[in-house]
Amino acid sequence: MSQYHIKNLEEYFQVYRKSVREPEAFWGEIAEEHFQWKKPWEKVLDWDFTKPEVQWFQGAKLNITENCIDRHLHTRADKTAILFEPNNPDEAAQPITYRQLHERVCQFANVLKEKGISKGDRVCIYLPMIPELAISVLACARIGAIHSVVFAGFSATALATRVNDASCKMMITSDGSYRGAKTIDLKGIVDEALESCSCVENVLVAKRINSDIYMKKGRDYWLQPLLDAAHKNCTPEVMDAEDPLFILYTSGSTGQPKGMVHSTGGYMVYSAYTFKNIFQYQENDVYWCTADIGWITGHSYIVYGPLANGATTVMFEGVPTYPDWGRFWQIVEKHKINQFYTAPTAIRALAKENLSHVEKYDLSSLKVLGTVGEPINEEAWHWYNDNIGKKNSPIVDTWWQTETGGIMISPIPFATPTIPTFATLPLPGIQPCLMNEQGTELDGNPAHGRLCIKFPWPSMARTIWGNHRRYKDTYFTAFENKYFTGDGALRDQTGYYRITGRVDDVIIVSGHNLGTAPIEDAINEHPAVAESAVVGFPHDIKGNALYGYVILKETGEGRDHDNLRSEINQLITERIGPIAKLNKIQFTSGLPKTRSGKIMRRILRKIACDEGDNLGDISTLLNPEIVEQIKKEVV
Ligand code: WT7
Repeated sequence: MSQYHIKNLEEYFQVYRKSVREPEAFWGEIAEEHFQWKKPWEKVLDWDFTKPEVQWFQGAKLNITENCIDRHLHTRADKTAILFEPNNPDEAAQPITYRQLHERVCQFANVLKEKGISKGDRVCIYLPMIPELAISVLACARIGAIHSVVFAGFSATALATRVNDASCKMMITSDGSYRGAKTIDLKGIVDEALESCSCVENVLVAKRINSDIYMKKGRDYWLQPLLDAAHKNCTPEVMDAEDPLFILYTSGSTGQPKGMVHSTGGYMVYSAYTFKNIFQYQENDVYWCTADIGWITGHSYIVYGPLANGATTVMFEGVPTYPDWGRFWQIVEKHKINQFYTAPTAIRALAKENLSHVEKYDLSSLKVLGTVGEPINEEAWHWYNDNIGKKNSPIVDTWWQTETGGIMISPIPFATPTIPTFATLPLPGIQPCLMNEQGTELDGNPAHGRLCIKFPWPSMARTIWGNHRRYKDTYFTAFENKYFTGDGALRDQTGYYRITGRVDDVIIVSGHNLGTAPIEDAINEHPAVAESAVVGFPHDIKGNALYGYVILKETGEGRDHDNLRSEINQLITERIGPIAKLNKIQFTSGLPKTRSGKIMRRILRKIACDEGDNLGDISTLLNPEIVEQIKKEVV
């Protein structure tokens, strides 16, 4: 039996039991056998959820890029590490071998050093899905700089907020990006953002679309000439297992985005371990995750997890709809993809189109299918299983979060029997529990409650950048001595988990995590708006869509409501990005409030979901009469 690579259900249970009974022995053995350390740890785990403080592999030294690149050079130098598939299907795919990756990462790392970046500095990366994105991430890790990747769909304001929060010293971007038939002026967005970021000293610009852009003298540099002049070797910085590897922002239910800080050693061990097991990766497989590296899925399961296992990982620049709805399947056939990992929202969109887009292609290479980011509904699950997997490839419905760093609850293919809508069982080392609102743990099955984790795991975020207090308040105060996920879950008779959705004011739209507060702040900036409230409602493709209730300062019959609606969405696009646009906007004269002045979102949610006839007791409201009126005005 190998605890690193689980092959059947019996093994899973054996390994799981050991991971709970002897967590330190369990993770210690895996870390020792499968990774390269420059100095061993003194202690595997030290933890205290009341502070909260968690340390894995205390005292150990390593560099994650040696584990992801250098050590494979003995056995896999000419194997493709990253397989780049461009937006335009007529442009040739670009395989990057482990040897080439080593050279390109070292050169990039030397450029960073030459531009004054050293261990501990923060570097913001705002790039499309081109090889420079993965390479710059690894280059930062090579020299111990902390990368903060911002998804290149975020607006200038959102980018500036993130750059300033982490006081990034450098920005890495490109002249622009391709997105289907469109091009996007990324450098223009960066220039606008940097007007309010004095911390950024230099901007490195990759050439992608060959557009004519503004380059600020003394600040902006084209990347390629610097890379060409750089040394092809770069000694990896010696990092402590607990040194931060990266910051990645996620939305909170209130206020500023949270810069989740991930560690080096624990993150490496857990992302690699879960990659191996959840995708059952074999040496010559080609693995493809369609996420963007701007999200945690891309960090853990395009870059670090696959590369730490010496895998071939595909990086796709484009979109599922370009040049037509068959693009995903064309790529599966072309590169003989063995493991395919995507979001339920993409599956739902693809399932709406004609099956001929699927049937044209040979998908027989597929062995494992995955989903991530939101619950997958039964219909989408069956479509995926029948038409893509041909009932022959297990589907892994993987539940996790930016904060958890790696997959937490998921089937292990060929071991765990799958049931649609169930993420099934916790991975080894993960100890989930369900709590009721009074704070009592629900033992026994079935049970439905708030999903918590009661024991540390190696890749958990260690803090929120610059705000440890908020880290504690958000995750460790709702339930004593437990990490609270913000999700609700059901555990069935057999112990399988189904995630039932967020229980806080975060809404998952097309698999993207959006907080209601920043969206409301953007709406309230409109001069005509007095107050607003945003809730989610079910949507065929996006899973959830956004419904905004907006109170205007003057009801002014004369105002053009459609015009106002597009102005509000324009503001949201500028402040956050197009992903946060509202699907429906209802103008109303009041919002249901509690006596302490809190908006009762539960009621607004029900009305938006067309369940307004079933509101329960509303007599405790300050203004119960408003509810009937809101129901009448529904759009
Ligand atoms: C939230 C985390 C982690 C990768 C991408 C999202 C929801 C995630 C599932 C799933 C049901 C899921 C949860 C979670 N979620 N995966 N398989 N089934 N819900 O990361 O942006 O940090 O969002 O996504 O609500 O809390 P994220």
